[in-house]
Amino acid sequence: MITVREVDPFDRPTYDRWDAAFRAGAAEGRPDALLVTQEALASSLRNRGPRKVRIPVAAFDGDRMVGAMLFEYWLLDNPDTVAVEINVPPAERRRGAGTALWRWASARAAELGRTIFQAELGIPGQPWPGSLFAAGLGFTVENVEDHLVVRLPYDEARRERLRAEAGELTAYRLTSWVGLCPPEHRQAYADLHTAMDRDVPSGGMIRNPAPWTAERIVENEQRTARNYLALVTLAHTLDGTPAGYTLMYLLNGDPEHALQDDTLVLREHRGHNLGTQLKLANLDQLAEQRTTQRLLHTWTAQSNGAMQKINARFGFEPVEVLHELQRVAPKLRPAARALVVDRDDRILLLRFEFADGHRAWAAPGGGVEPGESLREALTRELAEEIGLEAPADAPLVWHQEVVADGHAKGYDGVTNDYFLVRVDSHHPAGSLSTAELAAENVHGHRWWTPAELQAYDGPAYFSPRALPALLADLLTSGPPASPHLLGL
Ligand SMILES: CC(C)(COP(=O)(O)OP(=O)(O)OC[C@H]1O[C@@H](n2cnc3c(N)ncnc32)[C@H](O)[C@@H]1OP(=O)(O)O)[C@@H](O)C(=O)NCCC(=O)NCCS
Repeated sequence: MITVREVDPFDRPTYDRWDAAFRAGAAEGRPDALLVTQEALASSLRNRGPRKVRIPVAAFDGDRMVGAMLFEYWLLDNPDTVAVEINVPPAERRRGAGTALWRWASARAAELGRTIFQAELGIPGQPWPGSLFAAGLGFTVENVEDHLVVRLPYDEARRERLRAEAGELTAYRLTSWVGLCPPEHRQAYADLHTAMDRDVPSGGMIRNPAPWTAERIVENEQRTARNYLALVTLAHTLDGTPAGYTLMYLLNGDPEHALQDDTLVLREHRGHNLGTQLKLANLDQLAEQRTTQRLLHTWTAQSNGAMQKINARFGFEPVEVLHELQRVAPKLRPAARALVVDRDDRILLLRFEFADGHRAWAAPGGGVEPGESLREALTRELAEEIGLEAPADAPLVWHQEVVADGHAKGYDGVTNDYFLVRVDSHHPAGSLSTAELAAENVHGHRWWTPAELQAYDGPAYFSPRALPALLADLLTSGPPASPHLLGL
């Protein structure tokens, strides 16, 4: 039996096992993969920033750790999105660890009310297990980038040739720095980052990044400076208007690799060789800073013709492709409901009348308010509708998911979590008036014996539709160990 739980990044022995499993799964069959260093990952997970939550999660089979996942979400932008990276060490594959981690991610995302899942997959060739796994979960490839590398030290002859071809830079000034952005350039650097987020081709990936500010530049630099040395070159017009930038990182604790990150030339300044000039200036900085690094890595969308051309000119060659994957789940409104059953096994149902003429008998309860837990919503709804206090340990017996229009405004459907609430007897009288209940489409109630449910043949329907049979089964078998999954 595989169990899944969060790993505390300060619990060193467990965290180290998590890191080892994560790395083993990520590196398998990928000689050219560039993995985040152990130090950088641990430091990021132990120093939570204000913008992003990153949770290490592990799958266990008994005491053995059989899989590792990084589960992430943003706090200040991308409110509907979570990102997952699932890595299962080769010896543990095809036994359900990946699926168990995915289920955890799916449940946590639902609790957070987030419906967009994103993942990145480095692929050295096809067929690739990660692609088959992700496709099986309903992910689609929304953007494809080439992962490219060039050897270091950079070829002097090529640099000279590129410099000669690029010619003199007359209409722009370049400013380069190593490490932190000089204060006088922060605003320009922030605006260029905002433009980068907007302009970088990302296919069908849903992204709504917040704009950058000078403060965010400082905050970001403080975080990255712990593990990376930034090499930056900025381009301005002669009157000081920012026109573009390029950013490279040397990774502390990784003697082999350097990373070419963003390069941007603003639209109105394209076509003047500025991309090449920026990269050449930054290569000069690299020549001064580099010690042992052998390879410079970069990623560029296959659809980004201009950058692909510059990369080819600089001698970059593809080693892998990076698939950006996405799965958009329907947005479902969660609700908590009570199967209120008295000592004679009669169930209390409310009668709903909808504007379109539909009539339904459904269990009392209703939508979960923002910030409320399921049980808090149950307590509130029962007090409002029928004046009943739900016991704190009422078992959760059914989880219903209905994806269809017309169930909840602004949503693609609903979920209903049903709790079994046994009572001796109860006289329904909630805090809401008859008029207030009617405004919520509730027009009366009725206690039903199991036989009456089975025999009912009227114009209204039950919710869930199979309520008579489901309830009979529940009363015979008792609450299930984990909630039964129901459709409409
Ligand atoms: C992808 C990965 C996480 C799968 O882990 P796993 O524990 O083997 O996954 P599961 O056992 O839960 O497999 C679930 C299903 O995925 C599909 N699948 C997984 N690996 C597959 C493979 N090598 N060939 C074909 N199908 C495969 C199958 O449909 C499988 O179900 P089945 O075994 O009943 O046929 C693992 O191979 C891995 O860590 N790869 C490297 C990192 C990666 O690609 N991560 C995924 C991106 S988030």
